[in-house]
Amino acid sequence: MNQIFKSVLSQSFILSLLTLAAANQSNAQNITIPIETSHQALVLQADENKNLKNIYLGKKLADPKEYDFIKSRYKQTEDYSGLLNSAYTPSGSRNLMEPAISVIHADGNMSLDLRYISHKTIRLNDNVSLLTVLLKDPVYNFEVTLYYKSYHKEDVIEQWNVIRHHEKGNVTLQKFASANLNLQAQSFWLKQFHGDWAKEMQPEESKLTHGIKTLDTKLGTRANLFMPSVFMVSLDKPATEDEGNVLYGALEWSGNFKIDFEVDFQDNLRIIAGMNNYASPYILKPGEEFTTPAFLFTLSDKGKGEASRKLQNWARNYKLLDGKGNRLTLLNNWEATYFDFNEQKLSGLLKDTKKLGVDLFLLDDGWFGNKHPRNDDHAGLGDWQENRRKLPNGITSLVKEAGADGVKFGIWIEPEMVNPKSDLYTKHPDWVIKQPDREEHYFRNQLVLDLSNPKVQDFVYGIVDSLFIKAPSLAYIKWDCNAVIYNAYSAHLKNNQSQFYIDYVHGLYKVLERIRAKYPVVPMMLCSGGGGRVDYGALKYFTEFWPSDNTDPVERIFIQWDYSYFYPAIASSNHVTDWGKQPVKFRTDVAMMGKLGFDIVVSELKENDLKFCQDAVSTYNTLKNVIWQGDQYRLVNPHEQNMASLMYVDSTKSTAVMFNYLVNYRYGESSKTPIRLKGLDPAKKYRIQEINIYPGTKSPVQSEKLFSGDFLMNIGFNPEVNTTRTSVILKITADLSKAANTL
Ligand code: GLA
Repeated sequence: MNQIFKSVLSQSFILSLLTLAAANQSNAQNITIPIETSHQALVLQADENKNLKNIYLGKKLADPKEYDFIKSRYKQTEDYSGLLNSAYTPSGSRNLMEPAISVIHADGNMSLDLRYISHKTIRLNDNVSLLTVLLKDPVYNFEVTLYYKSYHKEDVIEQWNVIRHHEKGNVTLQKFASANLNLQAQSFWLKQFHGDWAKEMQPEESKLTHGIKTLDTKLGTRANLFMPSVFMVSLDKPATEDEGNVLYGALEWSGNFKIDFEVDFQDNLRIIAGMNNYASPYILKPGEEFTTPAFLFTLSDKGKGEASRKLQNWARNYKLLDGKGNRLTLLNNWEATYFDFNEQKLSGLLKDTKKLGVDLFLLDDGWFGNKHPRNDDHAGLGDWQENRRKLPNGITSLVKEAGADGVKFGIWIEPEMVNPKSDLYTKHPDWVIKQPDREEHYFRNQLVLDLSNPKVQDFVYGIVDSLFIKAPSLAYIKWDCNAVIYNAYSAHLKNNQSQFYIDYVHGLYKVLERIRAKYPVVPMMLCSGGGGRVDYGALKYFTEFWPSDNTDPVERIFIQWDYSYFYPAIASSNHVTDWGKQPVKFRTDVAMMGKLGFDIVVSELKENDLKFCQDAVSTYNTLKNVIWQGDQYRLVNPHEQNMASLMYVDSTKSTAVMFNYLVNYRYGESSKTPIRLKGLDPAKKYRIQEINIYPGTKSPVQSEKLFSGDFLMNIGFNPEVNTTRTSVILKITADLSKAANTL
């Protein structure tokens, strides 16, 4: 960079600092910027050298002026760099720790410094505010705007950045995190989740030690197969359900992510979260903007339960598509037929859907492909025309027939994928992600289409659009994504291969945006060979997700329990299937803790089993709003005890549902002590009634008795779970009659 340009730039930098100093006369030295929600605060501060720092993240103080005193109470060692708690750590200048951003400037120089220029807060509505902070490099014409969107009531903050420059050529972004948080505590406890197919959301909790612990994925698609980006960090000691300080975090991104937890030499925790920069240096032209995905976090000083309720509320209010809306109960044919069906069989299943009493029939995989019929998972993906042998009259006629039977119709697609045995693969080899000169490597016999290519985006959009054009009353889509990306190479991106992983996800979001512009609320299930793609980046476009192909109900208790930390029950599609050894009652009871569906052969159900399921659907319809919209309380943790117990309470604390299960079948196992309920009104009197009772069995629960909320929350209630009563659902209703209140 020439000298004159540099000096003009630094003059304009000084000028902007002066303007700003004038604007912040109250404190010529430090500029403190608190981001407060109802209970928590993230406090930023620009120091006398205009380094922007995170000076506090924790419980909100009554007097915001006192945030200024926090730093001086800490007598930790020398920082050396002045950047240790930077709000967005630049690299190549003074930083000594993991950076949040690192770049190669147009002139090849790799240093970056970012100084505070200005900030402003806009109130978007009564509950939501948006703070922007502009940072600039004093030497290079390079800037980053930090965005903090805060949701007051829910105590949630979403954070992202926009990076831009006006250098004389392209800048390469080497790292571009979304968030850079700093926490202070005696110790930090990370709870993370790992998994594989049918083993989603396996929790692990450990103390963070000095150095960096990384959670990441490099799979491209089905990115969460081994690990999702959701995590929690407890401060001082592992938080329990109702006690302790805990931060929940997640990246709103459906591709590669990287979250670094660095305990630094001062014993503080730095969290740097964003898209994974693995194989992804990004070329930014002068004047162009690079926007990172949002990282979201919430804090609770009352344990994991409260943090979950805040996040679930936030998701329903602001993120999950149609989070306050309705959902459809359904019968799916995947496990009932696999690929083996025809029109006649489906006609029977449509009638069974009605008989069962659910809202919709969902036709799964296997309905398409002619030259390469989809009769197993080796062929057909990409050829989205109805298979003429199986469905001679096409989808349109099935949708009509469903309507005549009084049910709705939904369909499975996997539009991002292609089998080498398909017309699509033969016609458009350049649309397929593969290395031109290397052997192909398959995941479930398939490859991924190149969504960085606008033509492929049009094709994928067209799959959904043409289904709706053909059958406008089509009521539901299950969107699957079974393969990861091997041999990452885009014929479309040519010399820009390092943008591929990021451009893929942007391409996917563009398609989903278009779909939602035309079909704003049609329910869509987010599936990825199970829960391989559950994240809030995608859930903006989807009404629900498929947590796992593992539908063994005992396994599901654990999987749903662990998803519930971060996602509301309304988003969790739970199906009753033939997995596991438990009776149909147990399986149905577990599936009712979310969005209920079935994937069984209804015609083969024994009379009482069918009767039970039909009654369960009706009961569910009366309680689904409490489960979907109510506050969730986890009562007994199956990871710690031989039982699981959870409850949902409506906002007026007048109706609640409590689900109880035995998860260990050793001799004599049972609920020996009462379980303390939560979230009720201590002053109200409640009636407890067992529901979902299997035909011909009697409940020991006496529903005539009334208990105060005080009693139920301090002493508790025993659902009398044992090896012959392995699952028990209780409905808890406030008795508002005068008589009850004078008891
Ligand atoms: C994935 C899904 C299943 C089912 C199959 C169909 O595995 O997770 O639910 O749809 O694909 O091939």
